[in-house]
Amino acid sequence: MTSFPFDPLTSYREYPPVEMLARSRSFADELHRRRTTRHFSDRPVSREIIEQCIRAAGSAPSGAHQQPWHFVAVSDPDVKRRIRAAAEEAEREFYDTAPAEWLAALGPLGTDANKSYLESAPWLVVVFAEKYGVSADGETHKHYYVNESVGIASGFLIAALHHAGLATLTHTPNPMGFLGSLLQRPVNEKAIMVVVTGYPAPDARVPRLVRKSLPEIATFR
Ligand SMILES: Cc1cc2nc3c(=O)[nH]c(=O)nc-3n(C[C@H](O)[C@H](O)[C@H](O)COP(=O)(O)O)c2cc1C
Repeated sequence: MTSFPFDPLTSYREYPPVEMLARSRSFADELHRRRTTRHFSDRPVSREIIEQCIRAAGSAPSGAHQQPWHFVAVSDPDVKRRIRAAAEEAEREFYDTAPAEWLAALGPLGTDANKSYLESAPWLVVVFAEKYGVSADGETHKHYYVNESVGIASGFLIAALHHAGLATLTHTPNPMGFLGSLLQRPVNEKAIMVVVTGYPAPDARVPRLVRKSLPEIATFR
């Protein structure tokens, strides 16, 4: 096993406490402006912006630095059409057979099997998790904390898209095995979610949701 060379930590920035507080508050405020939308405009978004947001996602920490993720950014109308058709088929089955409790949880959001945004939004970023690693010579090796690592990277991606000025929708078709075959991904990868992104439609509406308050989500001891 070869170990990494170690360098001085030059990327760290310290801020005066007053500035730190202002930065933390404004970052929290910015993240709280993020809303999931299910209504997208078909206005194009340049590939460079999506590339930078994926770059941001790729900065996420990962178990043993294995970076067990891959992002497939789809803008090709034909591929989007095929993803929509397969997702709607999976969703129709889901809405017909899902447990009543799950359907009740989704009810207030007004979601249904129609996924027109999978075609109208300019970009679909499909997040894949590498369940295990495969080296150049075909040897396989175990990956650690895959779900946690890919979850954090997906959060970075959504935050980066929001920060860039784009709207997002986290879409999780159930089941979503079709994404691997449709996008020709290797067998060690498993689709985790589709991050739909673009400009919101001019008449986009969102459910009036209340987020938990700080005391509800945090305990200080
Ligand atoms: C893991 C995960 C899966 C989700 N799957 C779907 C989905 O398949 N379809 C959908 O319309 N919204 C989906 N959502 C979006 C949630 O419904 C949304 O984040 C939640 O209602 C809170 O709204 P907000 O994002 O505007 O704060 C998903 C969100 C997460 C984090």
